[in-house]
Amino acid sequence: MKWSGFWLAAAAAGVKGQEQTGNHIDWPRWCGKVYEAGYPGFDPGGQTSAPTAVAGRPLLHVQFQPRYSLYLDSEEEGEFVVNADFSQFHGTTWPNATSIRASKFIFSINTVEGDDPLVQNLVTVNTTGNIFSFDLSRLTPSLEPIQLVLYGAPEGGDPTWTATSSLYYLPEKKKGSVTRIDNLKGGLWFRNTASKNKFEPLLAYGFYSSYDGFLGNKNTSDIQHYADLGLNAITPLTIYRDSANEFAYMDKIDLKFMYNLREGYKNLTYVHEQVLAARDAEAIFAYWSADEPDGWQDPFSAPVLAYNLLRKLDPYHPVAVVLNCQNYYFAEYSAPADILMADVYPIGINSTFSKWGTACTPSLGDCGCDNCEGTVQDVPARFDDLARYESWLGRWPKTKIFNPQSFHGQDYWFRDPSPAEEYVMAALALNHGAQGVISWVYPTSEILGRAHGAFAKVISREPVLGFLVGGDRPRKIDVRVPGTDVVDVSGWVVGKKMLVIVVNGGYIDVRQRVEVPVPNATVVAGTHWGNVTWRLEGEKLSTGLLPAMAVSLVVVDVR
Ligand SMILES: *[C@@H]1O[C@H](CO)[C@@H](O)[C@H](O)[C@H]1NC(C)=O
Ligand SMILES: *[C@@H]1O[C@H](CO)[C@@H](O)[C@H](O)[C@H]1NC(C)=O
Ligand SMILES: *[C@@H]1O[C@H](CO)[C@@H](O)[C@H](O)[C@H]1NC(C)=O
Ligand SMILES: *[C@@H]1O[C@H](CO)[C@@H](O)[C@H](O)[C@H]1NC(C)=O
Ligand SMILES: *[C@@H]1O[C@H](CO)[C@@H](O)[C@H](O)[C@H]1NC(C)=O
Ligand SMILES: *[C@@H]1O[C@H](CO)[C@@H](O)[C@H](O)[C@H]1NC(C)=O
Ligand SMILES: *[C@@H]1O[C@H](CO)[C@@H](O)[C@H](O)[C@H]1NC(C)=O
Repeated sequence: MKWSGFWLAAAAAGVKGQEQTGNHIDWPRWCGKVYEAGYPGFDPGGQTSAPTAVAGRPLLHVQFQPRYSLYLDSEEEGEFVVNADFSQFHGTTWPNATSIRASKFIFSINTVEGDDPLVQNLVTVNTTGNIFSFDLSRLTPSLEPIQLVLYGAPEGGDPTWTATSSLYYLPEKKKGSVTRIDNLKGGLWFRNTASKNKFEPLLAYGFYSSYDGFLGNKNTSDIQHYADLGLNAITPLTIYRDSANEFAYMDKIDLKFMYNLREGYKNLTYVHEQVLAARDAEAIFAYWSADEPDGWQDPFSAPVLAYNLLRKLDPYHPVAVVLNCQNYYFAEYSAPADILMADVYPIGINSTFSKWGTACTPSLGDCGCDNCEGTVQDVPARFDDLARYESWLGRWPKTKIFNPQSFHGQDYWFRDPSPAEEYVMAALALNHGAQGVISWVYPTSEILGRAHGAFAKVISREPVLGFLVGGDRPRKIDVRVPGTDVVDVSGWVVGKKMLVIVVNGGYIDVRQRVEVPVPNATVVAGTHWGNVTWRLEGEKLSTGLLPAMAVSLVVVDVR
């Protein structure tokens, strides 16, 4: 639950007469759980859980997506990504017969209207990330998505597989920016006049930014100061009607912004009016529709209607939704979004007993961070949860952005995180799949503003940017250190280089040998963050000291 007096009042008024989700909808609830004293706990409902595994032969789960969420009619070649992995939960039973070659899946991808396939090919079963290019000139540019269908079969077998997807093939944009999502690697690619209309990788790093005490000052030097900290993105908590000059300044200095619709996302007239004002800006990179709709138990339809209208009015920019809850109707609340943002605010909370005088459990209470333990580990745990839910639901993973806590107060959060905790939480989020960092809320303390700016300068710029956005998704590297279970390591490979991020999420120094296996590594090419000294020997990075709350970003050359 974020502090925002205006929004609390607006939401309270807005929900009157509007159906909420979950159980006991007349009681004061957050994430479906009653939080005030005097009520019994109950099952909030809406949990995403593992589907029942299918016994026997594995299912082949076939999914496909266009490589990029949109193409422009100035482009000639498109790509599809085809996944055909074995699953216990989703798909169709793969045959067990010797009459067919049991390892190849043959398929075609067509538009729903066209009989002439865009792609006809085969993949080895139990592989993902297979890329197939096709000729975009076969399609007609349109502002509407083009519906696609895949038909497939075991090579020589019956065509019993189908999968659907859609593709935007849009008229070239004459004015303002375009953002697209790389459906293979998850990152954002952005173009505008400043990039000479060439798509460039974007790892958005900044703050939700207040009107009061910042943008409402109407002083562009304040915005310049913000950008000078090293932040490349901003989510202004204001709209064109109130801050046109400030948005113009963001355009001018290319400070990428996510446009906020949260005050009126349930009002489609409002959404319409706001999108017309924002869609041709130079610096807009996304829209933000619903803020914690799961926390507020908003009707499922509200973010869906906003999303559909946004897609119609502006198919050139993705839409983000912020989730607050650990496991409350994830399927429904995450559906109307291209980007999922996660509010995980665990620092300085009492995770077991709330200011309302109730315990916090999976069936009761609100302690400021849903089902959290109150440590930095709640951050990677949440990103793992989101990925697990997507996999259980059989969904293609969405791009994720982490919203770190840069505040205290409201009797939930008794202190600010330290800079070290901020780095650790952000790095753990990256290690567990986040590809953007937007912190709540600016202005924050001078020290946290500078801390995020310093980290942003490293991770949102080359060479690190190329790994986090252009690289394969993070691969977990298992590092066992006796006596601690909070050393967390991931690696990203691009060509002949590998980025390794090592995090000690504990409050005590690890004073023993820590070994990080990095197969095929030949030499340490550079350290981009942190003061840990690494030796590379026998394809292992090692150190004798990993300080408390250390974050280390190292690039190694690989054979
Ligand atoms: C596949 O068929 C062979 C021969 O009939 C049989 O031995 C084997 O157990 C089957 N495997 C599965 C996973 O059903
Ligand atoms: C499919 O691939 C996964 C991951 O590589 C592997 O663990 C699994 O055993 C494979 N399944 C089959 C049936 O080959
Ligand atoms: C604008 O902000 C800068 C610092 O960011 C300050 O020095 C300047 O006095 C402010 N200008 C006005 C008109 O308030
Ligand atoms: C919906 O938005 C429009 C446009 O901003 C505004 O005029 C109208 O008052 C809003 N309606 C409600 C119920 O807030
Ligand atoms: C949480 O609050 C309860 C009740 O005030 C208290 O007993 C408990 O010690 C607190 N826990 C922490 C970790 O502060
Ligand atoms: C290391 O290199 C070998 C040979 O090029 C390759 O087969 C193997 O996949 C590489 N290992 C990793 C973990 O990248
Ligand atoms: C590295 O060490 C220096 C000197 O102690 C310190 O000022 C700096 O903050 C450290 N950097 C990081 C990223 O920990």
